[in-house]
Amino acid sequence: MTTASLEFLNKLPKAELHLHIEGSLEPELLFELSKRNQIDIPFKSVEEVRAAYKFHNLQSFLDIYYQGASVLIHEQDFYDLTMAYLKRCQEDHVVHTEIFFDPQTHTERGIAMKTVIEGISRALKDAEQEWGITSQLILCFLRHLSEEAAIETLEQAKPYLEYIKGVGLDSSELGHPPSKFTNVFKSAKALGLELVAHAGEEGPADYIYEALDILNVSRIDHGVRCIDDDNLVARLIEEQIPLTVCPLSNTALCVYDDMAKHPILSLLEKGVCVTVNADDPAYFGGYMNENFMSLVTSLNLTEAQAKKLAINSFNASFIDDALKQKYIASVEAL
Ligand code: ADE
Ligand code: ZN
Repeated sequence: MTTASLEFLNKLPKAELHLHIEGSLEPELLFELSKRNQIDIPFKSVEEVRAAYKFHNLQSFLDIYYQGASVLIHEQDFYDLTMAYLKRCQEDHVVHTEIFFDPQTHTERGIAMKTVIEGISRALKDAEQEWGITSQLILCFLRHLSEEAAIETLEQAKPYLEYIKGVGLDSSELGHPPSKFTNVFKSAKALGLELVAHAGEEGPADYIYEALDILNVSRIDHGVRCIDDDNLVARLIEEQIPLTVCPLSNTALCVYDDMAKHPILSLLEKGVCVTVNADDPAYFGGYMNENFMSLVTSLNLTEAQAKKLAINSFNASFIDDALKQKYIASVEAL
């Protein structure tokens, strides 16, 4: 069994399915935008910002993450943010990405839905032309806000549905179960959108059942708490329901205190369709290949396991079958 090397991972074509674009805002761009838009931030230097990125749970991260997003004002800001992430995709050989965005974080500050979607989408189009990276956009509802606010957000997105592949559910998980959003997910489904939800990151395995059985999602974001319920793991295997797992996020937010205890590879070996993703790379210490490398260092990830994770990422994606098969063949050819 050959342990995967960085050189091997750099050649491995991959899809990223769990990436919050606001979570890719690097401190350097945060500072540049705060100056450009004259928005005060409570930090004096890039070093001070990085020093503040010490989290003890999801909420302690979200408080800083929402503050960071306040420097995003103009269409060009969303373009610059997205382009910087896509450049990292190109470097890490991420050939397809399905990007989350949190419109309510922006519309609540008076930024128009149009500004957000057009800025992000223009960068997606340019990256496809320049590097051949394919992509899709997933609109996330903030679960700490009401379902009425989510319904209003879906309404505001209706003129831009050509840019949106699906909807998701993120933000503070505990106390905000998936069932709180039953109606808005039903409406999104009726619009032909794909459905995903964060579940079982900090919340219990029950939230994963709710996301599957009440929201009817086809993919679970995180989902690592499934390990508390053998019947649920058996179902995930049987139905091949993908989990978009985020290793560095899970250690940064203390879901696991040590990467050596992370269950991703034991789930992979059991036959769960797990994938590797960065979640919020600017905050958690790395993009796609740094997440893969953390599995090499702590869990001795092999080349065969890395290839399986990459194949899973394409199988779990929302791309059409022909392109999916083309990407999978390029992994198998390695
Ligand atoms: N928003 C951005 N990152 C998130 C995460 N890991 N969990 C929930 N909401 C998020
Ligand atoms: Zn996430």
